[in-house]
Order: sequence, then C-alpha cells, then structure tokens
Amino acid sequence: MVEKLITVDQKKKIFHLHNSKISYLLSVEDGGTLCHLYFGKRVNDYHGQLRYPRVDRGFSGNLPGSLERRFSRDTLPKEYSTAGEMDYHTPAAIVRQKDGSNALFLTYKDYQIVDGKPDLKGLPHAWVKNNSEAQTLIVTLEDKKTGLLFDLLYTIYRDRAVITRSVKVRNEGKEPVKLEKVASMQIDFVGRDFETITLPGAHAHERTIDRNHINQGIHAYQSHRGTSSHQMNPFLALVDPETTEFNGDAYGFAFVYSGNHKFEVEKDQIEQLHVNVGINDFDFNWQLKAGQSFQTPEVLMVYSDHGLNQMSQTFHSLIHDRIMRSKFKDSLRPIVVNNWEATYFDFDEEKLKPIVDEAKKLGIEMFVLDDGWFGHRDDDNSSLGDWQVFDKKFPQGLGHFADYVHEQGLKFGLWFEPEMISYNSNLYKEHPDYLMQVPGRQPSPSRNQYLLDLGRKEVRQNIFEQMSKILSSGKIDYIKWDMNRHLSDIYEADLPADRQGETYHRYVLGLYDLLEKLDQAFPDILLEGCSGGGGRFDAGMAYYEPQIWCSDDSDAIDRLFIQEGTSLVYPQSMMTSHVSVSPNEQNGRITPFKTRGIVAMWGDLGYELDLTKLSHEDRESVAKQVKEYKKIRQITQFGKLYRLKSARTSNQCAWEVISPDQNEVILSVVKMMASGQPAITKTKLVGLDENRHYEDQDSHLVYGGDELMNLGIYDPVEQGDFKAQMYHFKAID
Ligand code: GLA
Repeated sequence: MVEKLITVDQKKKIFHLHNSKISYLLSVEDGGTLCHLYFGKRVNDYHGQLRYPRVDRGFSGNLPGSLERRFSRDTLPKEYSTAGEMDYHTPAAIVRQKDGSNALFLTYKDYQIVDGKPDLKGLPHAWVKNNSEAQTLIVTLEDKKTGLLFDLLYTIYRDRAVITRSVKVRNEGKEPVKLEKVASMQIDFVGRDFETITLPGAHAHERTIDRNHINQGIHAYQSHRGTSSHQMNPFLALVDPETTEFNGDAYGFAFVYSGNHKFEVEKDQIEQLHVNVGINDFDFNWQLKAGQSFQTPEVLMVYSDHGLNQMSQTFHSLIHDRIMRSKFKDSLRPIVVNNWEATYFDFDEEKLKPIVDEAKKLGIEMFVLDDGWFGHRDDDNSSLGDWQVFDKKFPQGLGHFADYVHEQGLKFGLWFEPEMISYNSNLYKEHPDYLMQVPGRQPSPSRNQYLLDLGRKEVRQNIFEQMSKILSSGKIDYIKWDMNRHLSDIYEADLPADRQGETYHRYVLGLYDLLEKLDQAFPDILLEGCSGGGGRFDAGMAYYEPQIWCSDDSDAIDRLFIQEGTSLVYPQSMMTSHVSVSPNEQNGRITPFKTRGIVAMWGDLGYELDLTKLSHEDRESVAKQVKEYKKIRQITQFGKLYRLKSARTSNQCAWEVISPDQNEVILSVVKMMASGQPAITKTKLVGLDENRHYEDQDSHLVYGGDELMNLGIYDPVEQGDFKAQMYHFKAID
C-alpha cells in the first residue's frame, strides 16, 4: 500500500504532512485559530501533546467575546496572521473593505486533501510528474463578515525534504475588497535562536552570502525594483548559530516569483520568530470583486538536518527536476562563445566570422550574437523594441550569418531585450503609449532605456510577433533574454486610477505570459535568462529559462563569491559562467587563464572574449579546457555539489561535484593569496563510496574513497596569487 503523506486527526484537528525526511504539523486551536506546531525532521506519530502554554500576558489581548485571558492570538504560533485580529505581528495579509476598515478575523472552516499538486495558472510553480509523488492539503480559513476565504495550500512530495506553500484568496462575499498585502506563507517558530542567511548584492556583485544574528524587531529583505533583483535575491535561510555546511539545522525559503518580493523576519517581545514571504506590499493594491479569486505565487520551504550543503542539494534537485520544464533541462549545456566582451557594439558580419572560425577550431559549440544586431543600434541609446536586423552590420540578412555559423558546425544564439523600448526607435514612433510612464510626468531613463507596459496584452502581442518572425526562420538555437534596467514610473495605461496598485504584479504576469507563449511556440530553442547579469536569477525564471547568466562580473575571483552564494539555492546547470580577458574588464584583476577556466567550469562554460586575439598559450588553454569540459560536464552540470571550503572564511575555495552513482568526482581548489611562507593545506573530499578505489585521471594515482575522505590530499604549493587546480577521479572497481 502506498504510504499516505498527509494524515488528519479529526478529533483533535491536527494535520500532519510527512514523508521519510520531514514532518509539518498544524492544528486548530481556540477560536478556530490555525496554529503552527512544527516543521522539521520527521516524527512518526504526533500524539497532540505540544499544547502552547497558556500565559496571561499584559498587552496581548484575547479572543473577541472571551474572558480567557491566557489565550492570545498575539502569542500563539500561527499559520496565517491578518490585520485587526489582536495579533501585533507583521500581518501576512491586509485587506481593505468597503467600510474603510482592514480588520479580518480568520477562522478555520474546512480542509481538503488532493493527490498531486494543483497548477497555479499563469504563475511558475513546482509541478508533479504523476499524482502519486505528492499530496496537497488545502486548509480554508474564512472571515465571516466579508465572506473572504483564504485557501492555504501545502504540498508535500514523497521523496523530498520540501513543503511548497501558496495562498488563494476567494471573495465569496457581496462587496469588492482591496488586497493590500497577501503573503504566500507565514511560519512562526518558538524557542529557536536562529540566524538569517540572505543573498544581497548589486549589479556585478550578486548573491553574496550574508549571515546575521536576529535582534528583536522587524527585519525585511526585499525588492521593490519590479524584478527579483541583484540587490536582494528572493531567498532566506534560518539556521542555528552552530549550523555549518555539513552540520546543523537549516530552513531555506525560496520564492518562485520574479518581481517585487518581501521576506519579513520578526523577533517578537517573547523571542518568538515570525516569518512572512510573499509579493512585496509596497505599491500593491489588488481589487478583488465578489466572485473573484487571487492566487499568490509559491514558496519552496526546505528543511535540512545536515547543514547548508544538504539544504542546497534539496533545492538543486527540486528546481532542476520539478521547476524547470525546458526540454533542455537534462541536456548537456553547449559551450558558448559570446561576442559581447569581444566586440561590444562594434561589429559586423565580417568581423564576427573569424571569431566563429576560431570557435570551430577550438571545439566551441555555439556562437551567441549579443546586443547590437537589430534596429540601428551602434550604442545603447537606440532601437530597443525594433527587433529587425541592422542591415549595416548584416547586409545579407541575419539568416545569412546564421547559416555561416551553422556551416561551421556551431549552433547560433541571439540576444533580445524584449521588455524594453528606446525613445529612438520605430516602436516608440508608432506606439509611444507602449512606454510605461505616469501621465503628465517625464519617465526616468536607466541605461538610456525605458520599460514596455508589459501588463498590456497588445504590447506583449507586438513583441511576440516581432520575435516570432525572427525565430520562425528555424535558424536560432538559443535566446539570451536580457533586461537591463529596473521598473520605475509605475503605471498601466489600461487600468483605472484606483487599480494602479496592480501594475507591478501585472507586469510580472505579463512577462510570464510572454515567456509561456514563446516557450510553447518555440520549444526547440534553449532560453537563457539575464538581467544585467544575475538581476533576475530566481526560481520563477527557472520555470521558463533553464539557465541564467550569473553576473556581469566575469572575474574568476569575484565569481567564487557570486557562484557560492548562487549555489545556496540554484543548481550548477542553471548558472552560466564565462572565461573573459585578464586584466578583467569589470575590476581590473589579473588571474591565470587556468583559474578562469576552472571557475567557469563550476557552471555552464563559455567564453566571453575575442578568440582571434588570444596568445598562442591562451589559445592552447582554451582548446584544453574545452576538451576537458566535454569529458566532465555531465558531472559538473548535473552532479551533487559539495562546497568544501569557502573563500569567505579561508584562503581557499574548494568545491566538489560527484556523479549520482559515485563513479566520478570533480574537485576544484582555488587558492586566494600566495605567501612567502605558505601554509600546507589539505582538502578532504566527501560523499564518496568509502569501499571503492578512485584513480586521479591526470596523475593516475589510486586512492581509496575512505582515504580521500579521511586523509584528504595535499593542495599544491605554488607561487602566485589565485592559482587553481582541478582533479578528476574515477572509480576503478
Ligand atoms: C547585459 C548583459 C551582458 C550583455 C549586455 C548587452 O549587461 O548582462 O551580458 O548582454 O547586457 O547590452
């Protein structure tokens, strides 16, 4: 018999979601209050004994009409808090009603258990292959006065330490309401002294790991730039102070959404923790008429009892297996050469051909034509929105150049920035109203460009048709979808004044709609995401784009930090990483070519330089790296990642990737600074089969799996900063 994943104690009204790894428990308490009991390591049977202590606390009030002073919604750990219910925590939801009030009082109504997982229409989400791999609990809370119903959706997978959560608000009342805030989840922890881990950053400095003690108060980690942003990735982990890469509890929350987000962590007056994750309530105001419903995006909640590394592995397999849908998700990702840092805007067909020729000789598999091939774009001041080929650069048409690339045996990729418009464009001349702007105000430029009003169907249709014309030639194998500014001048021309608070979210829904249409129409094109590097690197985009350009900072040493932070949540196959020139064009750092290759091989390898200008030695290095990468990419792109050492805390960065059958292992070690008296260091591997023997493919030395894990190997002692070494071990028995 298939084991049930959700059990309900009807009498005590306790819901238990469980698999072999985790349990999630909730119950209905006094006053119909949905109480959070537990999320963590699996418990077999919960006997209902964890009753929240009844304490009379000053200034934490009680249930309406009740004289019981020892029960307060202000202290009880809950599943979903709203404004106006005698709970002073940051509410998960705020709803403005016809009478001007925003008070709700949610009480338990009923529940439903469904096999599998309902689709979230129009939104990216984790999916199921068949209904037996997951079950979903839907607990409905109601507000009797307004007739609003809140369906809290919880899905548990059979084999994953993951709960997904989202909320659907249904207006079954008679009056319209305004949703001013609807978080996708709330979770309250009692008696845990957690620290937060977040991934803040900036353009060319994305996703740097930040770990902090939590003080009393409300801490918000958020974006209101219209995208998930470089500045704060939509991710949060809560860890014990003693949690490390391989030990201790780690709770990870990743938001499957690419727009404004907000993670609120509140340590309250009695040191309980309250966490909300959802669409940012900044400038959010959604009209919900009688009979309408609103579905929030989804949050992936991961629990690990073996530190951050296990948390990351759980996210990696979930995002790869059950968020990505592209037919390329399991395919070996091609080695790319991209002309951006090679030529910037200064190119034409004749200048590009020698790069293609060189790429062919070096074994590179795809040529990506970056920005500047369309309209009359010679710099970043014009042509966004005009997706027709720039005749001056391609006098015989784009197809002619694509044919040339294909004849050399390479695939052909093309850059687009579909969400943008330049003043200096035909699109603007024809449709000035497509540009997102507030009537009567001059919109602010950023990189000399403006946003399209993507919430409007007509605007999306125009861009879809323009792109389709080019893509239906059948000559494009890959798209790099860029987005080089954030939203401002928020206004949707199709909406009335009192609904402008819907604009940010409608923009994201419009973006998803456009991506979905393109995915459906051109399933054979590999889509790579980008937003000035990794400005929209989130689980939502993974649903449409199985890989994303990690950062505009291509310096190998900066990339150690960026890629480590990225790998907390996102799998290696999702990170594109290119070798570029030294001194690096973003930070001027000089690094060995070998190191640049080894660091780029952490993700999907490519080259972002002019191959025709390489020294003989560097050219040899590219050929060697390409050959090597083809041997190992199945493992590096899809294997299990172990972060062994971090450059944040040591003079080295080391990561290991291992094939699922434990047959092959890639180990890379980068040393940061050289020293006159170098310390002797070792690297110990993890996750190998201790009973098998592994041969180093380079030196042919043989080691026991247990030797590599317990004794380790000495790191090379070399002169010079930023030296790196890569090892490839294969099991021989
Ligand atoms: C962004 C991308 C770059 C490049 C440029 C082109 O910055 O991240 O890789 O495509 O745009 O304008």
